Amino acid sequence: HSGLVDLSFFHDPPDGNLFIAEAKWHVPFPIRRVYFINNLANRAAVRGKHAHRKLQQAIFCINGAFTLHLDDGRTRQRLLLNDPSRGVLLGPMLWHTMSGFSYDCVILVLASARFSERDYIRDYGEFQRLSRSAKSGTRSTRR
Ligand code: TYD
Repeated sequence: HSGLVDLSFFHDPPDGNLFIAEAKWHVPFPIRRVYFINNLANRAAVRGKHAHRKLQQAIFCINGAFTLHLDDGRTRQRLLLNDPSRGVLLGPMLWHTMSGFSYDCVILVLASARFSERDYIRDYGEFQRLSRSAKSGTRSTRR
């Protein structure tokens, strides 16, 4: 599932803004990997288009803007990210796509584990099958 992550910040205009993400306090998982994406010169670029089996991430737009599309297999959501202090938690089993990048967009991602291609689900049909069976599994254990 997803949720919002609000960072601490110190605004010192015109001398800059400082933003802070601390594991546990701002981000509800130990941070084991950080990556960022820049140079989004192609306005038609579409990134993401996958879900993760176990990985938890927090995604931020630290400059510019982009649109984050989320799909948990049941509900779709579209979020405009344009505030460096406000990130979105990307829990496991959440199909996510990024698009509509401003030319100056910079994306920062904090992740709970090191890179593993095995953790990716890159096929939307497989994602739907897995999220459907996970959900019916959750229901049957609750009964
Ligand atoms: P990918 O996660 O598919 O990018 P996005 O979701 O932003 O479109 O990653 C793109 C490529 O980079 C892919 O070949 C895997 C590689 N990669 C790593 O090797 N390590 C990493 O930590 C990440 C995030 C990607």
